[in-house]
Amino acid sequence: MAIISKRKGALREDRMLKEQVKIEANVLDKFAMQTIAELMSQGIIQSLDFPIRQGKESVVFRATPPEGYPAEHLAVKIYNVENSDFKHMIEYIANDPRFRIRKNRRKLVHEWVKKEYRNLLLCERMGVLVPHPHTFRNNILVMDFIGEEGGAAPTLKAHGPFDPEKDYKFLLREAEKMYENGFVHADLSEYNVLCAPNGKLYIIDLAQGVVKGHPMFEPWHERDVQNINRYFKGFMSSAKRDRV
Ligand SMILES: Nc1ncnc2c1ncn2[C@@H]1O[C@H](COP(=O)(O)OP(=O)(O)OP(=O)(O)O)[C@@H](O)[C@H]1O
Ligand SMILES: [Mg+2]
Repeated sequence: MAIISKRKGALREDRMLKEQVKIEANVLDKFAMQTIAELMSQGIIQSLDFPIRQGKESVVFRATPPEGYPAEHLAVKIYNVENSDFKHMIEYIANDPRFRIRKNRRKLVHEWVKKEYRNLLLCERMGVLVPHPHTFRNNILVMDFIGEEGGAAPTLKAHGPFDPEKDYKFLLREAEKMYENGFVHADLSEYNVLCAPNGKLYIIDLAQGVVKGHPMFEPWHERDVQNINRYFKGFMSSAKRDRV
């Protein structure tokens, strides 16, 4: 029995290793490697530890900073220039006076990363709980790692709320805070909230966010609020049922 489970474990490890190699070959092209080397020589990261998640357009790695850095780990989001959705990016960059539409695919992705960095800073300054952004360069964003030694914090979708009523009110308040400060996330949902080990909810994935004055500012805010309402609806009714 032990031998079988050991063999199964070995096979699983083998598959994970192959997957990791595939991810790294896919996203870590020569250009990304050069950028990582720059981040290393500037003393921002010491190593890329393992991929946390591979999406269609980006891979997020856990990284370790050099000794003495104020954070124990970092999250490094690397956008895949070839796989990024050009049209989608243009829709959210157009009409935002802070950024320029670039015809060159690579340059547009760099603009997108700058946008995510600036949006994180903006939200942090207005007191919204987001991972602190450390820096960005080309197609790479470096921010605080949300999680524990063992791994990254799960999304709200995967984990479920800590306390439905409290979390619902908190996220609605965060969306309102953004709105009052002239910003809208524009992709707020249970998929872009991380449940940290300390019981706090962090909002992530801010590249889509736009500022007031954008023609879609109001409807995108409404959409964010509706997403929160939709997600918590089921939890609220079951919580209330439990109390009866
Ligand atoms: N700061 C962070 N700390 C820990 N994990 C993170 C962090 N940022 C992102 N992640 C992990 O990476 C995943 C994807 O991040 P994000 O939502 O920013 O990218 P995305 O472009 O939407 O990718 P996807 O298509 O995979 O959703 C998150 O669900 C989370 O698991
Ligand atoms: Mg996301």
